[in-house]
Amino acid sequence: MTPYEIIAAKRDGKELSAQAIANFFDGYLAGRIADYQMSALLMAVCIRGLNAAELNAWTSRMLASGEVLDLNFLDRPRVDKHSTGGVGDKVSIPLAPLAAACGLAVPMMSGRGLGHSGGTLDKLESIPGFSTQMTIPRMKKQLERLGVVMIGQSKTIAPADKRLYALRDVTGTVESIPLISASIMSKKLAEGLNALVLDVKYGSGAFMKTLADARRLARTMVEIGKGAGVKTAALLTAMEQPLGAWVGNALEVKESIGILRGEVENAVTELVIEQGAHMLVLGGVARKLEDGRASIRNAIHNGAGLEMFRRLVEAQGGDSRVADQPELLPAAKRQAAVLAPRAGVVQAMDATSIGWAAVDMGAGRKRQEDHIDPAAGLEVHAHIGGRVKKGQPLFTMHVNHAPGRDDAIVQRLLSAVRIGPEDAAPPELFAGIVR
Ligand code: URA
Repeated sequence: MTPYEIIAAKRDGKELSAQAIANFFDGYLAGRIADYQMSALLMAVCIRGLNAAELNAWTSRMLASGEVLDLNFLDRPRVDKHSTGGVGDKVSIPLAPLAAACGLAVPMMSGRGLGHSGGTLDKLESIPGFSTQMTIPRMKKQLERLGVVMIGQSKTIAPADKRLYALRDVTGTVESIPLISASIMSKKLAEGLNALVLDVKYGSGAFMKTLADARRLARTMVEIGKGAGVKTAALLTAMEQPLGAWVGNALEVKESIGILRGEVENAVTELVIEQGAHMLVLGGVARKLEDGRASIRNAIHNGAGLEMFRRLVEAQGGDSRVADQPELLPAAKRQAAVLAPRAGVVQAMDATSIGWAAVDMGAGRKRQEDHIDPAAGLEVHAHIGGRVKKGQPLFTMHVNHAPGRDDAIVQRLLSAVRIGPEDAAPPELFAGIVR
């Protein structure tokens, strides 16, 4: 089949053979198929979907476009976690060192902020000196020595995803369950894992707005993982409001350090403990979830997780003094409170808008070439179900920009919070598990 015939077949809802998918990818990566043809196929997939056989072929080609790490030399189980993304989701930062302190090898490759959602790499890079780039041989050495690395996707890992992602970002083809599944799983399968815990988010700040779609995405990714021989479980968790109390890069690192120090107990801490417990059970270092939860709690309380974080930061060139003196992280010059316009109970929050407000402050990018302001972001004082008085701060903005830019951001933040007279229940954080 020619590229034209393959695109037209998917447009008309026909099944593509594994050979047709392989030929299309090979042609694209070799430069014989143009970006506009790949974009047309992506849109056809977005609308028509892929069945299980097509998705397997698609994911395998993405994986085969690069290197698959061989980490069999490690004497610990190799387990990673991955979140589908949200606002204030800093779980990976305390979780990776805690899981390593409990006996796992965690070869974590993360991404940058995407649209309104924050990225682990941008957060880590707010630590002075911290480098998220590393050669594969160095990564292997650090994993052997410490049990944890936190880096960006290397050029040689699933390079097809990098190119497809850039196209999807600008062609309205991100929100597709098969394309998201293949994108995430091709990168994770390239890490040479024994097990993977996925945090699939649903709600106002997630890419999947409904629990039903999140469940479909979770099932699809778990099937791909299991099909590749990786023990995979997906937790379905709420992203109906910013996670925890802080949004913004250095601010979220500070909150993460608070969790590692045992000083912060909030929804982020709950997710860290639950996802950590699943990682330990799937990796075989805890027998039951309750044991896994106890091990993670222990590693918080005895300081083993904080010590691992310190060593991780040092190993990757960062200033490890931040573990004890978070005030060494970049701080914004100015703070401004956003006040509740009326008294009542917080009924709902549009976490995507709050994420975009953080991007407006400089905590994320609107264009690929934009620079991040590591200090910018906000403290979230109110959550769903909380009662507020008129004039009480809903948010505190931490900014370096001129005050003239505040008004538009304040308006965006205020319209993201619905305050009403009736009581409202906070959303359940855990909505199920797919395995
Ligand atoms: N994260 C990814 O890596 N890929 C997607 O398609 C969406 C979120």
